[in-house]
Amino acid sequence: MSTHDLYTIPAELSTWNVEMAGSSRFTWEYDDGRDRMLALYQKGKDKQWDSAKRIDWDLEVDPYNVLGIPDQTIAIYGTPLWDRMDEKTRQDVRLHSAAWQFSQFLHGEQGAMICSAKIVESVPDLDSKFYAATQTMDEARHAETYARFLQEKVGLAYPINEHLKALLDSTLGDSRWDMPYLGMQVLIEGLALAAFGVMRDITTKPLPKQILAYVMQDEARHVAFGRMALRDYYQNLTEAERNEREDFVIEGCYLMRDRLRGRETWETIGLSKADVEEAMVAVDQSEYLKLFRSLLFSRIVPCVKDIGLWSPRLQQAYADMGVLDMAGQSLDTLMRQDEEIADKLDEARFAEEEAERHAEVAETIALGGEQD
Ligand SMILES: [Fe+2]
Ligand SMILES: [Fe+2]
Repeated sequence: MSTHDLYTIPAELSTWNVEMAGSSRFTWEYDDGRDRMLALYQKGKDKQWDSAKRIDWDLEVDPYNVLGIPDQTIAIYGTPLWDRMDEKTRQDVRLHSAAWQFSQFLHGEQGAMICSAKIVESVPDLDSKFYAATQTMDEARHAETYARFLQEKVGLAYPINEHLKALLDSTLGDSRWDMPYLGMQVLIEGLALAAFGVMRDITTKPLPKQILAYVMQDEARHVAFGRMALRDYYQNLTEAERNEREDFVIEGCYLMRDRLRGRETWETIGLSKADVEEAMVAVDQSEYLKLFRSLLFSRIVPCVKDIGLWSPRLQQAYADMGVLDMAGQSLDTLMRQDEEIADKLDEARFAEEEAERHAEVAETIALGGEQD
């Protein structure tokens, strides 16, 4: 089935073409890689996995409660708008908000694939090109996984949100080689990683849990890559060059906080204009979403600080957003946890399969015994 049949709002039938900017760079230095970068590349190769095999696609998903979480997590829960809704509309709210969220993950993963391919082309050093090539493959697997999840399990999809599209456009349309890193590895991936993390930790359903945990295991490497490359490069920028990067970060962060809000879901389920406005006010005021939005910065703020974009101006912007204390988060600890959670999930699943096999064997033996 064509994904276009699943889109709630018609998406452009043609491809979206972003004009390429900048040069593709070859290097003839094949030796001389940075040890840390090559170690990360090795890890990228070692840790490839196949979503067709590692994920248990037979698990069922209830499209009306994809994550298995209570209604308290819905922005409008408990408002007069929610109270006025009949059960059918509430079901639509549950389905559409999950479909919207996972659709943006999917389009974001395609964006990440294209950005990392662009990094392969444009970054000057061979060790970074090698690493970015493994990331391109990782992102392809992520896009494949989310696409399958939406198509087979949710059954509904949303086109890319216009603000996410604008951010991708300004990231890809820039000729400076570090901009795909900054826009994609630091901002978009940082945001996505935090959102995946909240969902991985609150979902009670095994299939989304597997997907989110395994994808996050790869993303930890991607963030490490961005930090490594940019920390080295940004040390030598002029003040004017650093200011431009900071402007981009500040603008991108405001955009992601204030505008990636899924207004289109409320319009699509057929709420009246006034009800859509009421829903958007609830989205602004919901305590759960306020917490969620500040958590979204848990990966970005420490990363921006780490790569050396940390002027008083940037700190002031984060203070205004109420997320400055996220700078104290340890990225290394968070990423170690991401790895451990995925490994533990594997262990638990394999232990369960092992126990089932043992039980089957015991049953077969017992059956054999009865026949004697
Ligand atoms: Fe990804
Ligand atoms: Fe990634």
